[in-house]
Amino acid sequence: MKIEIKQGNITQTQADLVIVNLFEGVTTPGGATGAVDAALGGHISQLIALGDFSGKLGETALLYTHGNIAAPRTLVVGLGNASEFDVASARIAAAKAIRAAQKAGARHVATITHGAGIGGMDPIEAAQALVEASVLETYEMPAIRSSEPQNKRIQHLTVVEFNEARIPLLEAGAQTGRIIAESANFSRDLAATPSNIATPTYIAARARAMAQEVGLDVQVMDWGEMESLGMNILLAVAKGSDEPPQFIILEHNKARASELPTIVLVGKGVTFDTGGISLKSNSGMWKMKYDMSGAANVLATLRIVALLNLPLHVVGLAPMVENAINGHAQKPGDVYKGMTGKTMEVISTDAEGRMVLADALAYAGRYQPDAVIDQATLTGSISIALGQQAAGLFTEDARLQARLLAAAEATGERLWPMPMYDDYKAFIKSDFADVKNSTSERMAGVSTSAKFLQHFIEDYPWAHLDVAGMEWTKKARPMYPAGAAAFGVRLLTQLLTDWPAA
Ligand code: BES
Ligand code: ZN
Ligand code: ZN
Repeated sequence: MKIEIKQGNITQTQADLVIVNLFEGVTTPGGATGAVDAALGGHISQLIALGDFSGKLGETALLYTHGNIAAPRTLVVGLGNASEFDVASARIAAAKAIRAAQKAGARHVATITHGAGIGGMDPIEAAQALVEASVLETYEMPAIRSSEPQNKRIQHLTVVEFNEARIPLLEAGAQTGRIIAESANFSRDLAATPSNIATPTYIAARARAMAQEVGLDVQVMDWGEMESLGMNILLAVAKGSDEPPQFIILEHNKARASELPTIVLVGKGVTFDTGGISLKSNSGMWKMKYDMSGAANVLATLRIVALLNLPLHVVGLAPMVENAINGHAQKPGDVYKGMTGKTMEVISTDAEGRMVLADALAYAGRYQPDAVIDQATLTGSISIALGQQAAGLFTEDARLQARLLAAAEATGERLWPMPMYDDYKAFIKSDFADVKNSTSERMAGVSTSAKFLQHFIEDYPWAHLDVAGMEWTKKARPMYPAGAAAFGVRLLTQLLTDWPAA
């Protein structure tokens, strides 16, 4: 989508459709909406007077302008109650409006920012919200077809601002919003791409290309390098597949590592999860192509960190493996020793995510990080507990927890704290190794998985996000069309943006 900021009057702006807005309870629109209303002979005021439009957040009304303004259509979007208006409302309004504009058949849309005028919002934030929400909302997953269907997507978005002095601010905000949303969409593309294409090797190639493009340091470890580090728990998963594993390492500000805070992001990168010998049931198994969403989100977040040039040393670890079944596949009862020297017994080969993370988290310790945050589509039970309303947050570090919850609040990517009582350790006690990768009963499936990960953490602040319920949107929400979600990219970006200087 082409995005531009233009100084001008919305009534004179050429586009297929122009978007204006209205707070709830306003009877006579002002500003840009007022100008459109006046040009249309009070059409918008009449809608309000008749009770056909109330200004409720996200409500839309489509009007034809009959040559009275430059654009043939105008769309009014509700901003809700003015006293409750915030950046979250601005994003919802933008998403609902762009969706309605796309449905109306517009290819070139012009819009005012939501809330920067009468709403009193910071113009940078308002522009970021507008562009971020618009790019996320109009995302479409890649499909492989023999003939291309007609493209009905919006091609061009013009943000119109009357006040010349504000243009540079809007440009800055729009640029940030675009970087964040396009990166999240990059993650969505990887998650939606089928596993026969999106293999560990393919993802590593995409990561390398992306790193080159944005100036990140990149390294990819192969089997031999992982083996010499002793990552035998991770490799126990990898050896059941004919696809070679790839351990992707991205780094921002590597040269300044000693002077800047170091944050390591880790993502589960299982390109397909058959369950292995503990085979999954057939129903819905196709979705297990998104079992690498955590890793894809890490790549996306590093892309953002590089483009925004955040003053931090950020490391992204994306261990990529396929969980399949061949003659070498790991079996229940097997015991493996990982990079930390600790051993584990396999109970379920379907609890492979925690195995991959065990060695990736051990590796994270090498950077002497100020914090490590992993995100993983780790358990089915987290979505039974929280649905698609929040991801599970597991940490015993109060400061990191507070920062993550603040970032969740700011972005609307919700986290809910889950318990990490030491009692859960008893559930993963093994008779044949230090720990086992699954419980015998189905009790406390989420907390025991987090306890398993914690067993491999060596002395750094750590938080685990179980995003299994969040990475494939079932029912579309604003900014999250059905399908690959890239949930966590905006959240982690916010966390890093707000991270205090050393
Ligand atoms: N990738 C799955 C978790 C998952 C399930 C993600 C549904 C997304 C949607 C994970 O590897 C897994 O299979 N977990 C098992 C753990 C069990 C064997 C202890 C699960 O949740 O059933
Ligand atoms: Zn699994
Ligand atoms: Zn899995």
